[in-house]
Amino acid sequence: MSDQMKAVVLTRFGGVDALELHDVSVPPVGPRQVRVRVHATAVNPLDFQIRRGDYVDQVPLPAIIGHDVSGVIEEVGSHVTEFGVGDAVYYTPRIFGGPGSYAEQHVVDVELVGRKPENVSHLEAASLTLVGGTVWEALVTRARLTVAETILVHGGTGGVGTIAIQVAKAMGARVITTARAGDHEFVRSLGADAAFDYTSTDYVDAVAEMTRGEGVDVVLDTIGGDTLTRSPLTLADSGRVVSIVDLAQPQNLLEAWGKNAAYHFVFTRQNRGKLDALTRLVERGLVKPVIGATLPLARTGEAHELLENRRSYALRGKVAIDVAGETVTLPPRIS
Ligand SMILES: NC(=O)c1ccc[n+]([C@@H]2O[C@H](COP(=O)([O-])OP(=O)(O)OC[C@H]3O[C@@H](n4cnc5c(N)ncnc54)[C@H](OP(=O)(O)O)[C@@H]3O)[C@@H](O)[C@H]2O)c1
Repeated sequence: MSDQMKAVVLTRFGGVDALELHDVSVPPVGPRQVRVRVHATAVNPLDFQIRRGDYVDQVPLPAIIGHDVSGVIEEVGSHVTEFGVGDAVYYTPRIFGGPGSYAEQHVVDVELVGRKPENVSHLEAASLTLVGGTVWEALVTRARLTVAETILVHGGTGGVGTIAIQVAKAMGARVITTARAGDHEFVRSLGADAAFDYTSTDYVDAVAEMTRGEGVDVVLDTIGGDTLTRSPLTLADSGRVVSIVDLAQPQNLLEAWGKNAAYHFVFTRQNRGKLDALTRLVERGLVKPVIGATLPLARTGEAHELLENRRSYALRGKVAIDVAGETVTLPPRIS
């Protein structure tokens, strides 16, 4: 094994040119760690938020960022018994806790690692870890969505939204989502029962009409802005709102009292349990990761540009990075 690898290094906070491909040292493997040959990673909004400087206190530079890995174990620490060399795994590296996934190799605590689903590619598996763990935490652990309930998923075409629709459907819920009109057939193919165009329709009115004034049991807020303030207007009595977006602005939640609403705020911390549950759903064919674009590691800056400016593209689901190969697939530009 060479002790050098290629990695995309964040050299300063700023634009996409702050991401530079460098040769760096492969970290040593501790007793309860494994070293993984990274086949694929993916881009999350968190990555471009870090790159542009939203988290300067948490990310010392230079840094390798990136929050999704799918790959194959090449070395195990002396106290690792649950995995062996050659095992295919997927996981989210510890967030704000050391090197990320934009690299040919990654060393990780074995507690974070899950067995990769056998029926999907490395690109697909890498596209699932952060968003899938977030959806599991939001819908299963926090909202405790149940069969026959109705959920409103904001942003049904996004990395989180595409998985949330499928997981909610697998749980037996009725799913309403927001998406541009041209994406309605696509979100229905994922399992949405109804879709409203967020560019032309007020979702509060649309939900009231669709549910005959009863409202939804759960709202998944992937958008921020005034979604928290307006969510109670769409809720049934004792409904739940789960928000995964950090908000700095004060919110007026008076409407929530009248609905006996519960609010949950989620910042995902990955663990193997959530990934193992997702693996079962993927292997049963109930959840399939959605990839809207793929680029090789050396073009990670372009991958950031695509996700950050997704309004300019017909992008559905994730932007994946082919670390072990050279795949290039790009979404059409919207004029
Ligand atoms: N707290 C956590 O643990 C956690 C974890 C994951 C993500 N997040 C956060 O959750 C958010 C979504 O993440 P993501 O990975 O899904 O991002 P993403 O892949 O970029 O998707 C964004 C989605 O939002 C849609 N959208 C944009 N503006 C909208 C509006 N006004 N109304 C309705 N939909 C709108 C987009 O639609 P178009 O396709 O039409 O553009 C797209 O479907 C980000 O802010 C991210 O940082 C938080």
